[in-house]
Amino acid sequence: MLKISGQISCCVALLLTLSSVSAVRRALNSISDLKTVGFGQSVPEYSLRLLHWFANEIDINNNDDILLTFDPNSGDYGSHYYRNDEELLDPLPRGYRYYTVGNSYQDASLELPDYVAESDIEDSNRVRIIIRVRQQNAARIIDQVYITQHYETYEDQGTDYDPQHTYPVTVCLLRAIRKFSLDRNNINSMRSLRDHFGSSADDSQLWEIMDIWDELACLGLFLFIVIPEKYSSHKHNSRRQPAPRRNTQPDFESRQNVTSGMSAKNQVDHRNGIKLKVTTGKSGNARIIWSNVHSDLLKRNVMVALYQNNQEEKALTSKCIENISSGSYDTSVPLNEGLQVRLHEVRTRFFFWISVGQEIDRGSEFKTPKAVNITGYNANLQLFANDGKACARLTVTKSFHNWKSEFKNAWVGFYSSENNATKNYERWQWQWATKFKENKSQDNYNVYEYESGMTIAPGVQARFILQDEIEKARTSPWAE
Ligand SMILES: *[C@@H]1O[C@H](CO)[C@@H](O)[C@H](O)[C@H]1NC(C)=O
Ligand SMILES: *[C@@H]1O[C@H](CO)[C@@H](O)[C@H](O)[C@H]1NC(C)=O
Ligand SMILES: *[C@@H]1O[C@H](CO)[C@@H](O)[C@H](O)[C@H]1NC(C)=O
Ligand SMILES: *[C@@H]1O[C@H](CO)[C@@H](O)[C@H](O)[C@H]1NC(C)=O
Ligand SMILES: *[C@@H]1O[C@H](CO)[C@@H](O)[C@H](O)[C@H]1NC(C)=O
Repeated sequence: MLKISGQISCCVALLLTLSSVSAVRRALNSISDLKTVGFGQSVPEYSLRLLHWFANEIDINNNDDILLTFDPNSGDYGSHYYRNDEELLDPLPRGYRYYTVGNSYQDASLELPDYVAESDIEDSNRVRIIIRVRQQNAARIIDQVYITQHYETYEDQGTDYDPQHTYPVTVCLLRAIRKFSLDRNNINSMRSLRDHFGSSADDSQLWEIMDIWDELACLGLFLFIVIPEKYSSHKHNSRRQPAPRRNTQPDFESRQNVTSGMSAKNQVDHRNGIKLKVTTGKSGNARIIWSNVHSDLLKRNVMVALYQNNQEEKALTSKCIENISSGSYDTSVPLNEGLQVRLHEVRTRFFFWISVGQEIDRGSEFKTPKAVNITGYNANLQLFANDGKACARLTVTKSFHNWKSEFKNAWVGFYSSENNATKNYERWQWQWATKFKENKSQDNYNVYEYESGMTIAPGVQARFILQDEIEKARTSPWAE
């Protein structure tokens, strides 16, 4: 049987020291405290997963000192020095340092286990733990722990942490979470945990959790206890499901034929009237636009996902659209030719694990506007986006042999608006036509490209100037 000892006294002192923290929320001291905070709409399970991992990774000695078991200076588990520039936390006393832990995208010798974050779910990599470390001889002791998260990209707050979703975590809570250690993965421990934390789960539910979560059963129970009400409705359709492409629900199968791979992908039925589109968002990044998603689909829980192109199988980013039938989402993926939006069912694996499920529909690839002829020459000019930057493409027919001498003084300028005068191209954003780099030439014509340093945005225009101020072509202003 699992031995569970009370641990109350230790926390009082800690709570007092934490009360001076100004910007952040109140301290979380128990599993019950965890139940009362939302951690925002979309990330509770990732915060809890990270916290579960952390509590079981560190050591706690008899004096309630939290001992580091990894080196935050070498980037272990996506950790790094945190300067507290935005004054999220109290100023540091001498001999202390803050570190953040939990960036799953960071290369490191010690990586977070897969169950903490999913690489294709942006939200899962938004949560962090901040620790305050006291350097004392060789021993390094953590004296404060916070759970926090980055703002969402649309909140436009850069890489700051959101004080509204920052909570101190006491050693008491860490001890409580450690009781859900993954090596206690057996029915007796599960029963004992259930009883100790007053969960209403009956034995059959415990067996079900063990069945679904397998070697992560104790984590499953922890999540079940902390967020039961909100998620209990998922319980019966949350069994481990086969890979999405084999997961054919009858009513979609007949319409969509996802089972037969690529050829079927192009047969998606567009008669449902759903519109899915990539447009130019902020800072040269792709914006996803969707509209006309019917309420019966919304009820099934759907998400939009962005792909490199029509062939790609792995989403670059995704977002649950909840009950919004027409809306937009600013991704942090730089705009490129070919990007494509698809609408998917949300796949809920286990209880809370959200990932891209069955495809429902897809939009067309992001297309570059047509090239414009360079008046009087067998050549044309096209504006396009590469990694969010404005680029120009010069296509010259092969019969136009002497183009380099004809275009000796020609240049292409980038303008932020069609109203700018010829000489008012954006600062430094121009290039000689003859200096463009050859790329993907064909039988009948040669293609030359140039990438400017200018961020692509609505209104941007490229112009071909033969010499001095003699303009021979201008593209349409870049569309919204
Ligand atoms: C789905 O694929 C199967 C076999 O590839 C084919 O027989 C069937 O007609 C397809 N259904 C639709 C709706 O395209
Ligand atoms: C969407 O859901 C939220 C809460 O879940 C609710 O407040 C809002 O009114 C809903 N919006 C629509 C358009 O149904
Ligand atoms: C551009 O040039 C091509 C071939 O040189 C010609 O076929 C086409 O009609 C021209 N387009 C316009 C809009 O003038
Ligand atoms: C080009 O026009 C835009 C909009 O009128 C203006 O904001 C910008 O400063 C102009 N650029 C230059 C280099 O004059
Ligand atoms: C051609 O352009 C693409 C981007 O538009 C770039 O990725 C590629 O490296 C270029 N190829 C050459 C040979 O320059």
